[in-house]
Amino acid sequence: MIYFDNGATTFPKPPSVIRAVNAAMQRYGANPGRSGHTMSLRASEVIYDCRRNAARLFGAESPENIIFTDSCTTALNIVLHGLLRRGDHVVISSLEHNAVARPLAYLQKTRGISYSVAEVAENDDERTLQNFRRAINGNTALVVCTAASNVFGVRLPVARIAALCRIYQIPFCLDAAQGAGVLPLSVTDMGIDFLCAAGHKGLYGPMGTGILVINSQTLPAPLTQGGTGSLSLSLDQPEALPDKYESGTPNLIGIAGLNEGIKFVLARGEEKILHAETRLAQRLYDGLSRIPGVKLYTARPEEPTHVPVISFNIMGHDSEEVAALLDSRFAVAVRAGLHCAPLAHKAYGTEQNGTVRAVLSVYTNPAQIDHLIMSVRKIQKLLSKKVAIGNKNVLE
Ligand code: ALA
Repeated sequence: MIYFDNGATTFPKPPSVIRAVNAAMQRYGANPGRSGHTMSLRASEVIYDCRRNAARLFGAESPENIIFTDSCTTALNIVLHGLLRRGDHVVISSLEHNAVARPLAYLQKTRGISYSVAEVAENDDERTLQNFRRAINGNTALVVCTAASNVFGVRLPVARIAALCRIYQIPFCLDAAQGAGVLPLSVTDMGIDFLCAAGHKGLYGPMGTGILVINSQTLPAPLTQGGTGSLSLSLDQPEALPDKYESGTPNLIGIAGLNEGIKFVLARGEEKILHAETRLAQRLYDGLSRIPGVKLYTARPEEPTHVPVISFNIMGHDSEEVAALLDSRFAVAVRAGLHCAPLAHKAYGTEQNGTVRAVLSVYTNPAQIDHLIMSVRKIQKLLSKKVAIGNKNVLE
């Protein structure tokens, strides 16, 4: 199988990640931070090491500012549910995932918050910034946006949006699901109050891992309360980080793997990863753009403006059908449809048919790119033949 579904989760994972998951399962799989025996202490050390490496990757003040969650979605929910009060207004971008849009729609119904959508102007940061500025009002209590679209790869001017929020003294939350691991993101240098990341995408960890980086004195109320292995006599949730947000047994196996995934990214460096993947994304973009009937939706991907995510369609054909043919005929894995991001699809006019999406990883190579281009070319020919002879099944 040639895997281009790295936006959903990266595959394969680095061997060091697999080894770490196995070691945690086989050698020291005790409950971290709960007991004083050697295995539990070893488990705690690994979790702390992951906190330290994540703090380094995201420029956090200290390892305690790293909160482990089960997903980027949960990290975003902690911030949204924990900060917003009745009457608050939120600004989001036109490229947000449902991980942001759905909690806000829920809070609109249940808590009377409101939100405005600032349109992202591809390749025009000035206009994007102006749209964010215009959307802010006297009740704006939070600005949330994605670092880059999970559907179209378009980057947002994160540092400039963060600076705008500082001027207006509004907390800024970044959804780094599609940016972490390919974009250098430092919460302290860029002035990001809350950064939410998936552990299993560009950080190459296992599924079931996510990170919330806190770089703010204003702390959201926690979503959960429970055992933390600390201050157990008190029925009040501990206030100290990270315990305030980490009730219940942590995902040692996942975090042990994530630690190695983060080390893998740190060793390579996000700039180098982005550079190499962008060159391949350009090869894919150029190859697809030469196929008649194939529509691409963005400008040619460039490092300052895009991450390596390419969305396309064979015009007149269902994106899901194209993805199914790529799978069954050419052993290519992509994701089609709406990618849980209807706002982004509406912004690009693709909400009816969705798109076929190919997302690259450090394991993508030129031969795989050429195989995908060749496969799309053949599918386009097959499908246009099918239309020419009156939709008879030429695909049997
Ligand atoms: N949000 C993930 C994606 O973009 C699952 O596919």
